[in-house]
Amino acid sequence: MIKSADFGQDFLWGVATAAAQIEGTSDMYGKGASIWDTFSAKSGKIKKGHKINVTCDFYHRFREDIALVKILGFKVFRFSIAWSRILPYGKGEVNPEGIRFYHNVIDECLEHGITPYITLYHWDLPQALEDEGGWTSFSINAAFNAFVSICAMEYGDKVKNWIIINEPFGFTSLGYMLGVHAPGKTGLGNFFSAVHHTALAQAEGGKILRAEIHKANIGTTFSCSEILPYTQSDNDILAAKRVDCLMNRLFIEPTLGLGFPSADWDVLEKFQIEYGTWRHIDRYKFDFDFIGLQNYFPLTVKYNAFIPVIQAWEVKAKNRKKPHTAMGWEINADSFYNIIKQFSSYNGVKNIMITENGAAYHDKIVDGSVNDAERIEYFQLYLAALLKAKNEGLPIIGYMAWTLMDNFEWAEGFNARFGLIYNDFKTQLRTIKDSGYWWQKFLK
Ligand code: NOJ
Repeated sequence: MIKSADFGQDFLWGVATAAAQIEGTSDMYGKGASIWDTFSAKSGKIKKGHKINVTCDFYHRFREDIALVKILGFKVFRFSIAWSRILPYGKGEVNPEGIRFYHNVIDECLEHGITPYITLYHWDLPQALEDEGGWTSFSINAAFNAFVSICAMEYGDKVKNWIIINEPFGFTSLGYMLGVHAPGKTGLGNFFSAVHHTALAQAEGGKILRAEIHKANIGTTFSCSEILPYTQSDNDILAAKRVDCLMNRLFIEPTLGLGFPSADWDVLEKFQIEYGTWRHIDRYKFDFDFIGLQNYFPLTVKYNAFIPVIQAWEVKAKNRKKPHTAMGWEINADSFYNIIKQFSSYNGVKNIMITENGAAYHDKIVDGSVNDAERIEYFQLYLAALLKAKNEGLPIIGYMAWTLMDNFEWAEGFNARFGLIYNDFKTQLRTIKDSGYWWQKFLK
């Protein structure tokens, strides 16, 4: 049986959250609208029409929730700052109530001996900035930099651990190419300009924190999935390579000063030329202290000539009769090990922190408890793979479970429960799931 002590004394164990998914009070206490407020208010965007205005009501309940982090035994709490709570219009006027709120959250963590990790951008762009083009507009960079400076000056004395951006590929692809996340934009033009500005924001944000916070520990996070070809045919292998460029390499490589992986995917080559992005290679680069990896599943892909741009198609876990979670995501801990290895192989990746990993299941409260044995098994498998990677010398310094409590899972609304704590969204009653108790024992 795997033990937390196997990972060593200094290993960081944490639990992660994000503002838009838990805070609620989305139009209260001086907060401005974010793109997720606007997007979720439109009909047909979120499953069952779920709304984002209350979610877990963390804004009012953060003291109890941080006490739960402590009860479960985590030493690190990752949360994000809602940009439009600090700057209701994205720039200009600052909202003092918003500033105070995050001071309170930080102080509460510190009083409990919990180390805060702050994410500066977890997908909730101020709507006022989206109205100017959002991540597709060059004006976003100055606005983001100003926001980062405010946070650094305000909280930098108390908080040393920072994450610039959460899953850049996640929000640029879902929000600016496929249109299934906020702001609901589509097309390659929107996607590539969002990619360019996001890659810049990541590096520039890092530089600002480095200049303004003494002894800052600065990271950023990447979603990642091992990409497997369905068969060993040349076409499937090529398709897998392209998907790998898109999903795994697109943001880490510019960050490391390598530019976009255009040599392995001609579409990126065209993008480089059209946007002249090769001229910015140095500007995308930043020497991060740690890289956050967020992994949930691998992807198996098959060549398909009819799929535009990428000519690849996913063969779902269900159709391959592989174990999967309630989201249909394949459970495959070997792929977790493999993808960590893939990211570790870059020169320049100094430390890796798993900043998210977890699973959604159809949890239910029965006689006051939630028996989520499948989630416990998921964590055991993935942690064993992580330990194997660590023991082989890969530079893994910590792990954060996704997530503290069931919350607003973006376009899935409240239907996908990822929490270690069950939340009743009508009463806000929190119930620690069996997986939460498993963590408590594991961390003791
Ligand atoms: C990625 C995102 O960062 C987080 O917000 C989301 O809830 C989880 N993964 C699960 O999908």
